[in-house]
Amino acid sequence: MVKVKVPATTANVGPGFDSLGIALTLYNEIEVEEINSGLSIEVKGRDSEKIDTDENNLVYKSMIKTFNEIGYDYKGLKIKQYNNIPIGRGLGSSAASIIGAIVAANKLAGNVLTQDEILDIAVEIEGHPDNVAPALFGGVVVSCSHENHTNYIKFPVDERLKFIVAIPEVILSTKDSRNVLPKKVTFEDAVFNLSRSSLLVASLMSGDLEKLDIALQDRLHQPYRIGLLNSLKNISKESKKQGLNRVFLSGAGPSVIYITWDMEDDEDENKFYNIIKKLPEEWSIQILKGDNKGII
Ligand code: HSE
Repeated sequence: MVKVKVPATTANVGPGFDSLGIALTLYNEIEVEEINSGLSIEVKGRDSEKIDTDENNLVYKSMIKTFNEIGYDYKGLKIKQYNNIPIGRGLGSSAASIIGAIVAANKLAGNVLTQDEILDIAVEIEGHPDNVAPALFGGVVVSCSHENHTNYIKFPVDERLKFIVAIPEVILSTKDSRNVLPKKVTFEDAVFNLSRSSLLVASLMSGDLEKLDIALQDRLHQPYRIGLLNSLKNISKESKKQGLNRVFLSGAGPSVIYITWDMEDDEDENKFYNIIKKLPEEWSIQILKGDNKGII
């Protein structure tokens, strides 16, 4: 029997579309056991009623893909999932399932895969590396997929950083959220994002957090996605009006994060809570830190 604990992740982090992600202190647990035959899946915890417990289950499908890659002949599987990461809210729940499944399958098969191979299988399933890489390694991970292989660099999340995560009840599929993105962007917008994304990585690496106000700006995905929900339009408008610059969509949304750090009298933190509290729809808030371990 093997057991893994895998973190939630926030991808894009403003301008780093499909290339930047941070692991957060919110975890799913997966327990798997090889049995003589058949399949048994039990899911408990947050949003468990939304998860398939048959052959369509993402943990199961990712385990089978891994066994096939390795050439491991399994007999039957018993899978138990305990979830805390909400589904379809932009906090890497599918990445957690995929990474959890590949790592668990690899353990059952005798640890034959390298970390790089685990990541490559995960990216093949997920389609982009920005959630799966930090779910695997923890920390802040910059990744770049090239010719079926993902190159990455991980560095620790600054201990001072605090992620105030606002999570709506409503679900938004990554597919729908990717469908609203433009096929082409202007040269100006491309330069806007690459300068912010570079500044963001340098700011997170060096600890020069004051630069985050500018470094989190984005023109590649958020302007298109906030139109998907009235509450996102509202949060964006109010945040701008009240001078909150460190508010961004988590992954493909719909969760929104206000990033801050240990500061005296953080009035902006209260302003963010008030914006969320005033929304007509149901939103909850969770305060998280960066996870530097990744899956264990
Ligand atoms: N980079 C991805 C997106 C993350 O924004 O569509 C969502 O999984």
